Amino acid sequence: MTPIPALNPAAAPREILLGAQALSKSYGGLRAVNAASLDLFPGEVVALVGDNGAGKSTFVKMLSGVIAPDAGTLTMSGRDVRFNSPAQAREAGIETLHQSLALVDVFNVPENIFLGRELHTRRFGVLPVLDKAAMRTRTIDLLQRIGANLPAIDSPVRSMSGGQRQAVAIARLLLNEVRLLIMDEPMAALGVDEGRKVLDLIVELRARGLTVLIISHNLEHVFGVADRICVMKNGKIVGIVDTAVASHDQIVRMIVSGAMSRP
Ligand SMILES: Nc1ncnc2c1ncn2[C@@H]1O[C@H](COP(=O)(O)OP(=O)(O)OP(=O)(O)O)[C@@H](O)[C@H]1O
Ligand SMILES: [Mg+2]
Repeated sequence: MTPIPALNPAAAPREILLGAQALSKSYGGLRAVNAASLDLFPGEVVALVGDNGAGKSTFVKMLSGVIAPDAGTLTMSGRDVRFNSPAQAREAGIETLHQSLALVDVFNVPENIFLGRELHTRRFGVLPVLDKAAMRTRTIDLLQRIGANLPAIDSPVRSMSGGQRQAVAIARLLLNEVRLLIMDEPMAALGVDEGRKVLDLIVELRARGLTVLIISHNLEHVFGVADRICVMKNGKIVGIVDTAVASHDQIVRMIVSGAMSRP
């Protein structure tokens, strides 16, 4: 039987950017992640929440090629994929922003963004030299793309605030063709204002069509930025709820009880 085409485009199923099906990972006798499934759609922000040790970091590490799952599958745009390294996930457009941002303090913004992939030009048509002007222009362009306003891109990043450094790290990731950005507790070390700026940055990235998966313990941030909230406990996904219809109490109950709960 031929399937009936959807007449109403809004009712057509959305394409899944990255799908995780029943991913599991054990450490010795401990099931850090137990058959966790999650579909991520283009242009959405999903927050992953749960108590310490719930399995959040382990789960996202399986999405980004850092850890190989013991069982389960990943699909991208409908095809089975397997990442044997972060580099392979990166090639597929999946980037992770680690808490240790990996910036070089004494370098300025363009130097950090192009670290290891510097642009070159030829002086007098022969001698290869760094193309500082081009890197600076690309840097300004990248920062504009994420709506980040940095006062002095030619100063060492050491003199910048936590939020500004995050912007540099994100701009650096965007040099590649990113489709999914994973952030493991990006706001943990930031002050209130700085955290707010990173939230603004996430909203900006979503507006540009990126998918963001963010781990956070701060439910205020989660409710401020996420379209959906995914709760984990003891390695299992307890439930996934739309932020628009979720309540703060409901999420707390789910985190604590490990069972689905009503708003
Ligand atoms: N490399 C490892 N070796 C052994 N056990 C590990 C390893 N990584 C994680 N675990 C264990 O797996 C469980 C899940 O850890 P994970 O780091 O994924 O939790 P989490 O939800 O990210 O917690 P947190 O909110 O504290 O960051 C924990 O019990 C942890 O001790
Ligand atoms: Mg963690």
